[in-house]
Amino acid sequence: MQKYDLLITGGTVATPGGLVAADVAVTDGRIAALGDVGANAAEVFDARGLHILPGAIDTQVHFREPGHEAKEDLATGSAAAALGGITAGFEMPNTSPSTLTAADLDDKLARAHGRAWVDHAFFVGAAAANVDNLAALECRPGCSGVKVFMGSSTGSLLVEDDATLLRVLAAGARRMAVHAEDEARLRARRSLVDDNAAAGAALHPEWRDAETARLATARVLRLARQAGRRVHVLHVSTGDEMPLLAENKDLATVEVTPQHLTLSAPECYERLGTLAQMNPPIRDAGHRAALWRAVADGVVDVIGSDHAPHLLSEKAKPYPASPSGMPGVQTLLPLMLDHLAAGRLSLARLVDLTSAGPARVYGIAGKGRVAVGYDADFSIVDLEARREIGKDWLASRCGWSPFEGMTVTGWPQATVVRGRMVMREGELLGTPAGRPVRFQETLARDGAIPRLER
Ligand code: DOR
Repeated sequence: MQKYDLLITGGTVATPGGLVAADVAVTDGRIAALGDVGANAAEVFDARGLHILPGAIDTQVHFREPGHEAKEDLATGSAAAALGGITAGFEMPNTSPSTLTAADLDDKLARAHGRAWVDHAFFVGAAAANVDNLAALECRPGCSGVKVFMGSSTGSLLVEDDATLLRVLAAGARRMAVHAEDEARLRARRSLVDDNAAAGAALHPEWRDAETARLATARVLRLARQAGRRVHVLHVSTGDEMPLLAENKDLATVEVTPQHLTLSAPECYERLGTLAQMNPPIRDAGHRAALWRAVADGVVDVIGSDHAPHLLSEKAKPYPASPSGMPGVQTLLPLMLDHLAAGRLSLARLVDLTSAGPARVYGIAGKGRVAVGYDADFSIVDLEARREIGKDWLASRCGWSPFEGMTVTGWPQATVVRGRMVMREGELLGTPAGRPVRFQETLARDGAIPRLER
């Protein structure tokens, strides 16, 4: 009998202690041994010249199912993830219907079963209507927590006033994900775009300005402290928020997107028009530099793609009728590897942001590091490969990327989810067998920890 199911040989492994030349052995979906483990395995993957990173987890994706399957669904979105070297994704609640109830969560889990290529969890949306149920909902199996929109974006989810936001914050215990844009300021400044439609998407960061983001982040930090609730501030886009977040690191974790770290205004709006339109907006190079400083300082915990596919026909509507959001789950890792190659961050920091950070922020059970006993999730990458991000490679149903035509250094060569190779050299392998991610705070409720007989 073979001792191991899979052996990954000859690669350089990103372990918690640093880079190590080691073989990685997998049994029953978990890492069984690291080091010189012999050759006794059913399947061997030759990883010479490659780096074996802990599976990259994208904690912010919109896979649009149910309701907007013309843009994306759980099968196509998770295929894009696997092709991009991502091993798990947390999906956002602004679908149609919004994810507000136990039935909505269970429906998404059932839809993902047998169709999702990577592991997954779903956020429940906060609304005045479900505030009394949030504490129970956030503990359901496969739930990554509660997400609140303080400013309106795609979909109808919105909690704009302090009183309701405080009730939401007081309603549960897990870390809560926040879209921080101040709705009152957005409304007050809306005439800017309505009166200057000819200016197009370049107006987006003027309307939804830095102060709109700073105000909301300051408000949610104040209310979170009042409620004693941990928060995770999504897609932080300004340098103005970072000092506030740094002052509140006991309570707040921070996410930035590859888009905000890569693109900048005004160039992106001149080149891409409404394709560069997202919420919160891409801002100028000064803000982008401040985000990189926050990455270097350690204030940023997580890179999330905010994968938000819309059809090109929808994006072709004149601004501001065009929807906000751009796809990103497939390009997260190539872009961050390219930033690594350009010297903007170290490999250890990259792994911290894409694997260990998500595990730490959301309390993921058994993922986020290459260590014996952990899930055998790997992003196997070639740090030297130079590739163009081409249309043919993209799997998102929306069919485009703002990074099309860009040549990057660093590329995902294989994706392994719990010991199953789901992508190799740009091809999906096998059948979709992603499973719900498990969380430390709710493991006992999931029934996943066997009880000791006493
Ligand atoms: O640009 C965005 N698009 N920001 C969001 O917050 C939502 C997302 C979407 O779902 O399209």
